[in-house]
Amino acid sequence: MPVDGVPPGRMPRHVAVIMDGNGRWAKRRALPRAFGHRKGVAALKGAVRFCSDHGIPVLTVYAFSTENWQRPSTEVKFLMELMKKTFTSEIDELHQEGVRIRFIGERNAFSSDITEVWNNAESLTKDNDNVLLNIAFNYGGRRELVLASRALAAKAAAGVIEPGDIDEDSLSAELLTTPCEDPDLLIRTAGQCRVSNFLLWQLAYTEIHVTDVLWPDFSDEDFKAAIVDFSQRDRKFGRVLEM
Ligand code: FPP
Repeated sequence: MPVDGVPPGRMPRHVAVIMDGNGRWAKRRALPRAFGHRKGVAALKGAVRFCSDHGIPVLTVYAFSTENWQRPSTEVKFLMELMKKTFTSEIDELHQEGVRIRFIGERNAFSSDITEVWNNAESLTKDNDNVLLNIAFNYGGRRELVLASRALAAKAAAGVIEPGDIDEDSLSAELLTTPCEDPDLLIRTAGQCRVSNFLLWQLAYTEIHVTDVLWPDFSDEDFKAAIVDFSQRDRKFGRVLEM
């Protein structure tokens, strides 16, 4: 189950992924960007299976950011349709594989045909416990913190909590990834070394692995390499390790 050469205690339990490079993958082949996104879905399926095969219980992927609305409307529309199609046509297979699906992001921007697909996927798979797949869609880390702050402010205004009682645990509890533990490992494909407004709070002590591989090409071997890299890190969480 674990990756060759990685002790079970050194396997990540929550992996987050910034799936970047679909456009470049298509451009290198002189294809429209849509081809890269379609191939990106296949890579996502591979990553879910990898987590299932290697006992990684949580995978959180960045599929559409709050900033992605600024892309050309044809691309935005294509990504919406692709998401709908994917979670309609693949849902039975994912369910059979014991994948629980959860969409994290603001839903009120979407029409009912999209939220229906999400609600169906979530309710069908809610009792599965093999892999939890969090799909960040219309997600932004800053927006998530604003919404969490508003929720806490509302509780304080209603007298449910005292402002002085707000702490890291109560703020964490309002985040969209709750109740998942923070990611152990963040993988970013396509070479850029930045977090791009993804899981800003949750990544505080996450190990980051950046690879030049473009997301549509991301394979089991690339996932293994990320885990081997992760397994060799000494996670200090601000402390000094015993010498
Ligand atoms: C980043 O590549 C990718 C995205 C913004 C979309 C991610 C979507 C997928 C991987 C498809 C699976 C998701 C769905 C909809 C189910 P980019 O387009 O920014 O690539 P570039 O930086 O090379 O232009």
